[in-house]
Amino acid sequence: MQIRSWADYEYFYKNSLEHSDEFWSAVAEYKIKWRKQWSQVSEIDFNLGKINWFLGAELNVSENCLDRHLESGKGDQIALIWVGNHPNEEKIFTFRELYREVCRASNALEALGVEKGDRVVLYLPNIPEVVISILACARIGAIHSVIFGGFSAHSIQSRVNDCGAKLILTATGTYRGNKWIDLKANIDEAMALGCPSVTKVIVCERDSAHGFFSQSYDLKWAEWLDRFGSENHLGASHSAGDPLFILYTSGSTGKPKGVLHRMGGYLTYAAYTYDIVFQPKENDIYWCTADVGWITGHSYSIYGPLANGVATLIYEGVPNYPDPGRFWRIIDQYQVAIFYTAPTALRILASAGDDFVKKYSRHSLRVLGTVGEPISPETWQWYDEVVGEKRAPIVDTWWQTETGGILISPLAGISPTKPGSASFPLPGIEPKILDDAGKEKLGSGPGTLVLARSWPGQMAGIYGDPERFYKTYFAPYPGYYWTGDGAQRDDEGFYWITGRTDDVIKISGHRLGTAEVESACLVHPFVSESAAVGVPDPITGESLQIFVLLKEGLKGSEQLAQELMDLVRKEVGSIVSLKKVYWVPGLPKTRSGKIMRRILRKMAQGEKTHFGDLSSLADPAIIEMILAILE
Ligand code: PRX
Repeated sequence: MQIRSWADYEYFYKNSLEHSDEFWSAVAEYKIKWRKQWSQVSEIDFNLGKINWFLGAELNVSENCLDRHLESGKGDQIALIWVGNHPNEEKIFTFRELYREVCRASNALEALGVEKGDRVVLYLPNIPEVVISILACARIGAIHSVIFGGFSAHSIQSRVNDCGAKLILTATGTYRGNKWIDLKANIDEAMALGCPSVTKVIVCERDSAHGFFSQSYDLKWAEWLDRFGSENHLGASHSAGDPLFILYTSGSTGKPKGVLHRMGGYLTYAAYTYDIVFQPKENDIYWCTADVGWITGHSYSIYGPLANGVATLIYEGVPNYPDPGRFWRIIDQYQVAIFYTAPTALRILASAGDDFVKKYSRHSLRVLGTVGEPISPETWQWYDEVVGEKRAPIVDTWWQTETGGILISPLAGISPTKPGSASFPLPGIEPKILDDAGKEKLGSGPGTLVLARSWPGQMAGIYGDPERFYKTYFAPYPGYYWTGDGAQRDDEGFYWITGRTDDVIKISGHRLGTAEVESACLVHPFVSESAAVGVPDPITGESLQIFVLLKEGLKGSEQLAQELMDLVRKEVGSIVSLKKVYWVPGLPKTRSGKIMRRILRKMAQGEKTHFGDLSSLADPAIIEMILAILE
């Protein structure tokens, strides 16, 4: 089942909606090696939050990414290229070498007592061990939960305890530009805060320059691999419905949610979408610049390309180290054919000037992709004209942690594109646009983006909290999956994603909930209440600003603002930088006590009069009071 032309797309799109089970059966048979066939394709009930795919089927996810390619004669082809932060630091693995490393890690994890269903937290940067240990967990059926290195000890602790992890695998640290990030120190701090389920912390030594102070719970990964890591491991058969991983992500309210993906559906969807969107060819080198700690790294640095037998490149460092030509230099050095990055990175590199790009040939590039936030038509055009020299089609891919893979995107070189539009839904995906009353809007116009039917990559639940799963995603519009995004459809049916309609903020493509920032501020003894908002920013997409109400009789100061900035980084992580703090005498609220952040967002952008519908505002006088302070 191949989709290689616009006629294929149109045929399969129609077919996928008319004969859904047959369509997904064909996809799953074509993309995945199953050890046992399913007895039922899907069992879905949006009204109950029930999402099950490929019932009764069995597979081994790691076998699909590795063993299968050895059997088909790809053993000596490149599977993984690791590029270190420092230029010329690299490691390259063929499929056979990666298979051996994953087998060693699987044996070593089992020797540590890790069993199927156990949760393993991976606090690892973009180094080969993150790919190896993810695939090893998948092989033995342990549930991996990667935590991005920019999260603090507090964030680590709350995630570790939420999933009850048995083991943490980490590294001494990582290099990001000129900085050394001491990851092990964050783990030690999290352990000191209390992680009672963790029996051992396994440490990969990033290099010989940085040792670590061994705690009683530590084990050196290299030593353990030498002792117990034999090079063969027969991956067992797992049910399609067994959990593959948990990835924490922010929502509007409360703590980050443990988004749960299951083996069969997730892998099928990652493999299928990677193939149809990027259209890889034999011997391609593919590079996704995301950190493996985010969903993009899971689906499109690891599972998607490796399930398709495509060589994947991961990079440890930042886009502008040692200079803003680094990305283009890596592309030339490894002859990258397919390149997938975030609009934020493009904005940073575009602002450094075209000379850094033009210094390199970039002739190997055939497909360009973008993900994570809306891309403006200007940045899209820069990507197209300067980076791709109009030779490489752009795929602007819209999706979420919850969706497991891409839902709306052009197919490279096949779909028509418009700068700034994610274009059309993939076959199998049925988006709808609803009005405020929840009624479907036909034709063109803006509204709330929902999905009318399930797809195999759809998250299967929130770890340990089925009620929150239903309430968050299915209760807002009965019968639909609610995305939290707004979108507009134009006259020709193209989709334009307009951004989040809830209290989720995107800073440099990183997803953050206002609730996390606000509860961090509340830790400060002077703070009574606060409201965080995302304000448009030319480089980071959005910047984080906060309106703070202090306790009776206290006054704001620069020093206090700095204390809050430090506190938020300590509580949430180094990914959060608070750009501005406003001291206010109160917050605009509805009569039921909900903060009206949209008013504050407008005020932070300099708006003084046009705040939209204020009929639900409890105390209209507060508007003038805040405006007077902002003056
Ligand atoms: O608002 C949308 C935005 O990123 C959100 C999902 O964030 P996260 O779960 O971190 O996953 C990011 C990587 C898939 C979405 O709700 N978003 C993602 N891709 C796009 C986008 N907004 C506009 N255009 C996109 N291509």
